[in-house]
Formats: sequence, C-alpha cells, structure tokens
Amino acid sequence: MSEKQHKAEHRSRPNSPEFRAFIAKGWADHDESLPEQTDAAQYAAARREAVSAAFPGERVVVPAGGLKVRSNDTDYVFRPHTAFAHLTGLGSDREPDAVLVLDPLEDGGHEAVLYFRPLAGRDTEEFFADARVGEFWVGRRPTLAAMAAELGIATRDLSELPDAVAKDVGTVSVRVVREADAEVAEVVETARSQSAEHSAETAAEADVELSRFLSTLRLVKDEWEVDQMQLACDATAEAFDAVVAELPEAVRRGRGERWVEGVFGLHARHAGNGVGYDSICAAGDHATTLHWIRNTGEVRDGELLLLDAGVEVDSLFTADVTRTVPVNGTFTETQRTVYEAVLEAQEAGLAAARPGNKFSDIHAAAIRVIATRLFEWGLLPEGVTVESTLDPEHGQLHRRWMVHGTSHHLGLDVHDCALALREDYMDAELQPGMVLTVEPGLYFKADDLLVPEEFRGIGVRIEDDVVITQDGCRNLSAALPRSADDVEAWVQAGGRR
Ligand code: GLY
Ligand code: MN
Ligand code: MN
Repeated sequence: MSEKQHKAEHRSRPNSPEFRAFIAKGWADHDESLPEQTDAAQYAAARREAVSAAFPGERVVVPAGGLKVRSNDTDYVFRPHTAFAHLTGLGSDREPDAVLVLDPLEDGGHEAVLYFRPLAGRDTEEFFADARVGEFWVGRRPTLAAMAAELGIATRDLSELPDAVAKDVGTVSVRVVREADAEVAEVVETARSQSAEHSAETAAEADVELSRFLSTLRLVKDEWEVDQMQLACDATAEAFDAVVAELPEAVRRGRGERWVEGVFGLHARHAGNGVGYDSICAAGDHATTLHWIRNTGEVRDGELLLLDAGVEVDSLFTADVTRTVPVNGTFTETQRTVYEAVLEAQEAGLAAARPGNKFSDIHAAAIRVIATRLFEWGLLPEGVTVESTLDPEHGQLHRRWMVHGTSHHLGLDVHDCALALREDYMDAELQPGMVLTVEPGLYFKADDLLVPEEFRGIGVRIEDDVVITQDGCRNLSAALPRSADDVEAWVQAGGRR
C-alpha cells in the first residue's frame, strides 16, 4: 500500500498537455486473452481451505508487502511475504502491495479475494510518469481479469481494500499478518478500532496466532512443493558444478571467494529467481565463521572451500546445500580426518530422519558422533566423557566446535516455519512431506589454542536437503558428491561428468 513516491524533482521534466495527449495514443490494443490457472494456484487453493477451517467466521488479511527502498529512489527486487506466496501461488516479483483477503461467507467457508493494483490505462499519468509502478518504467501488470484467471479467485482494485476490511467490523473479527505490511496493518487496526469490543492487546494476540498458524501450515509440504524443492536442489547442483569448474580461476584471479559467489549467483539467477540467501563462500579459516557472507577472501591451493548456497526457483522455494571441497582436489590427512567425522555425523543424522523419530533426534544422532570424535581426539577437557558432555544439564562443551543445530525446516524460507511452536517443530514427530536440512559441521578456528596446530583453520560442513518419506527420507541434493573420495574426484574432474 505504499503511497511513497520517490520523485526526483530536480530531474523531472514538465509534462505539457500536448505531450500527455500524444503519449496516450497510438498503441496497439493490449492482449486481452486470459492465462490458464497455474498449478501453483491450484495447490494454494487447498492451503486456503485449511486457513478457512481454522478461522471460521473471521476475516483473514494476508498482505504481499510493498516495495522496499534500497537507497533513495531505488528499490530492492520485490519478494512477496512468504505467507502470501504460499496462499496465492504467486512467486518472484509478484505482486507489490497486493493483499489476499479471506472473507467469511454467511453459510460457512470463505471467499478468497485478491486486492491489487491492476494495469493502468495509457491515459493515466501512472502509465508513463510513475517510475515505481508505471508500465513505461517497470513493465506491464496484469488486469483484474487476467489475475482472476491465473489464480482462480476473485480480484478487486486495491483502492477497495479499506472498505472491504472494515465491513461489519462490529460482528466480524479481522486478523492480519501484520509484519508483512505496516500500512495494511494500520488499515486493519483503524477498521478494528471502530468496534466497541476492540482491544489492541487482544487484536495483537490474534494476529500473532494467525502468523504462527500460517508458519506451522508449511511444516508438511504437498507434492507440488516437494517437486519445487527438487527443482531447487537440481539447479543448485548445477551451480555447484559450475563453481567447481571455476576453482582454478578463483585461485588465479585473487579475491576468489567473490568469484565463487558470482559464479553461483549467475547460475542461480539464470535458473531461478536468484540465491535463496546470501551465499557463504568461505575458504580456509573463513569456513570457521558460520555465516561468512563477506566473501572477500582468497581461495588458496591447499585449503578447503566451504560453499553454503542455494538456488531459489521462480516459485520462491529454495535449496540450502553445503559442500566442503579441497581447492586443489586432494584433502590433506588432517582435512580428511575432519571431513570424514562430519560425514559420519551426517550419515547418523540422515538415518534418524524418518517418521516415528522426533525432529530433535536428527541432531541428537549427529552430535553424538561429533562429541565422540572430539573425545577421541582428546579435545574435551580432562574428565569430560561423551555421555557427560552430551547431558543437556551439564557441560555441552563439544558445542565449542559445532555451536549450531543440525537441522531446520526448509521451503519458501531458508529457515522455514520459524514461528511454529517448539511442540510443533523441535519436539514434534517427523511426518512424510516435511523438508529439512541435515548439516553437521566442525569448525576449528585459526586462533583456537585448545586444538592441535594442524586442526587450526579447518572448517567443514556438509549439508543436504531431505524430504521425509513413509519409511525414511529421500535426499533431494544427492546428485552432489559427498564421500571424501567422490569429492576429490569431482574437483579433479572440474565438475560432474
Ligand atoms: N545457509 C544457512 C543454513 O545453513 O542454515
Ligand atoms: Mn546452509
Ligand atoms: Mn541450513
């Protein structure tokens, strides 16, 4: 709903009446043919049914969010709020300022209506003069009819939203995903405040409950979502391949981490919407910084490169994959020792990723391997055993070398379902259709005086994306080499053959 206009007055030119008349005419008719309803929209309809069943008789407002200023009069590429994308099936770039409203029907259920700013006529100022949304500047938007056909829901002009939200507020309660768009949240709050029953505190709680419900709804993916995740993982594997082929160039050019970031980003942007999160391109000791995204370093012969990156496809589902490779194609003995410990931990985590187990069992299985290896290498202090360090009431000293968790849910957000309660996430049983990462690691910082010198500056993480099946899990990123031997062969060959 942003009304912000970043007019660069000092650069604007007067629009004479002659110019206005001239620019409005002489254009071929727009193509009025209607698109087919997308697969994405059909699956979104079933998700809206779940929302409808959870909030009977209530109005549910889910904004896409507005454009975000990057600097002055330049915006970031638009990305809709995740809940909006999930409930409409609209993906990259669509649709700034749009708002999905589930309006309660008298006989039960809801009518879904999308409010958005439809294509403006060529006789409007917006057509040629609005650099933020005008057709001349950012391209054509859909008409109300085209969007209705694509999504299979009713569509109305955004200008009708305030009245639609406020209708019958005395009897109909309204909830909004308020973090998606502050201006829409304000419209909703203004409407709610007209009701005699209104309490800002109760309304805030209702909104939090809605956001949590929508986050929790994404825990189990439908078949279309799993297909999107597979596409994302396949595109990610291609991009990893391209990086491996470019390793000699990354070494030769200097500032090789940026070369790696660029090569991965090129493939991500070409195959999909882009990267699902800033790529972690971490060579040498940088790999021991968990979210190293500055990527300013060298990629050196003899060191490891940890690349944690994922392609986000056009539907906005993202992969999240890590491979740690020897830059010159051969692990040193110590690098291989650390690598194989992490791989063993990952295998244990993958084996635990099955129905009947809890989400937290994956971490428990992986971290046990990590703690055991650290104990065997003599890194835990005198008197600390594997069992004592794993005991949550005590110690947990092994976490010095793997401070993060082993898994998170994955989907439209890289850390998906983040608002779900602990009982629905960490403590919940795994169910078929859940998509999550398995990503143990070991990180020995260059200045860690508690580890032998040859361990210092080695960071290893191995991360795959899996979908839980009826009897286990399927590794969606299995196309990429994982064993130490396969990784060496991969780098030596300059990619998968
Ligand atoms: N790429 C961030 C993570 O692995 O969670
Ligand atoms: Mn990752
Ligand atoms: Mn991850």
